[in-house]
Amino acid sequence: AGAVPFHGEHQAGITTPAQDRLHFVAFDVVTKDRARLVELLGEWTAAAARMTAGKDAGVIGAVGGVPEAPPDDTGEALGLPPSQLTLTVGFGPTLFRDAQGRDRFGLADRRPAALVDLPHFAGDALRPEISGGDLCVQACANDPQVAVHAIRNLARIGMGVVSVRWSQLGFGRTSSTSTGQATPRNLFGFKDGTANLKAEDGGLLREHLWVQPGDGPDWMTGGSYLVTRKIRMLVETWDRSSLVEQEQIVGRAKGSGAPLGRGDEFDEPDFAAKGDDGQPMIAATSHVRLAHPDANDGARLLRRGYNFVDGSDGLGRLDAGLFFIAYQRDPRRQFVPIQTRLARNDAMNEYLRHVSSGIFACPPGVRDGGDHWGRALF
Ligand code: HEM
Repeated sequence: AGAVPFHGEHQAGITTPAQDRLHFVAFDVVTKDRARLVELLGEWTAAAARMTAGKDAGVIGAVGGVPEAPPDDTGEALGLPPSQLTLTVGFGPTLFRDAQGRDRFGLADRRPAALVDLPHFAGDALRPEISGGDLCVQACANDPQVAVHAIRNLARIGMGVVSVRWSQLGFGRTSSTSTGQATPRNLFGFKDGTANLKAEDGGLLREHLWVQPGDGPDWMTGGSYLVTRKIRMLVETWDRSSLVEQEQIVGRAKGSGAPLGRGDEFDEPDFAAKGDDGQPMIAATSHVRLAHPDANDGARLLRRGYNFVDGSDGLGRLDAGLFFIAYQRDPRRQFVPIQTRLARNDAMNEYLRHVSSGIFACPPGVRDGGDHWGRALF
């Protein structure tokens, strides 16, 4: 139930061990006043440093203030431990130039080329009202009340400056970001997060995760690009498919998580192996074959997604799926080509619908008490 350090070279909530719960929010900036936006980022940073340490959002707290005024904390986390809460901020393309082409905050020339507008992928069924956003905050914790409390208080503090565009709850991590964590399972029942970038990967993190000096504008050095996709999983249809079909679609065994034809979860897949019928053990249209670095010029991702069930859809089906979250050094070389390949050929697509999409530039970490979110950008 401990605290994850808020300050550091990189933002927490990326390589820090993936917690079990998510509340992700995207905001639109509603003020035209650049100074007011920068002031809010400072206020948010102070509140985030406090809440990740298990304290109230404001210095006075939920119950310590004058009775005639609204409290500076909403109170529902009183008495709860920090629960490994992390708060990770990101800036969307529309902060730099909005849909009408306006440069509202004088940031257009600060936009990194890597912060692309994602292309349309085959099969996309995106809903604009739950996609995009000028800013995002990813709250992860091991207690859902703690994650929701954090987002609610940031929204409260931001009133008049930002408004919530969309938000998503997630339960059950679908990845591991540390070799010390067991691999969890997604709602198809498969281990998810086996072949992920992990905190211990050292050189691979420099190559594939963190923005390096010279990659683009200096304000992003030490940061990472975040892509979110809300992917509805048609679980009722999936549940009527056979075990062997499910395993061929994924390319791994459902029980052990091992690549087909191998014995252990962490064995490398052998894409050349053929079965008794002469067919490849791991089908050409399987998810792991198409997503593997061998098929994508070596590109890798740090995946950090969550399962979601948003009730049911009124047609007798669960509104369930994966809130996919991936961090990377450059989406042009990582998410975009991988998803292009998956969208065209992945046998899993029959059971998936991408309904929301977001891309955000997550700056490096807040160094100390004198630093704040977005300081180097503005
Ligand atoms: C691997 C499930 C969407 C990229 C896997 C694995 C599973 C899985 C079960 C194998 C275990 C592992 O290594 O983690 C799913 C499901 C999805 C989904 C159910 C949708 C609901 C995506 C998307 C991307 C992606 C949208 C990226 C565009 C990857 C990558 C791997 C992977 C890079 C590792 C491949 C390797 O190196 O072996 N996924 N995935 N997945 N997935 Fe997905």
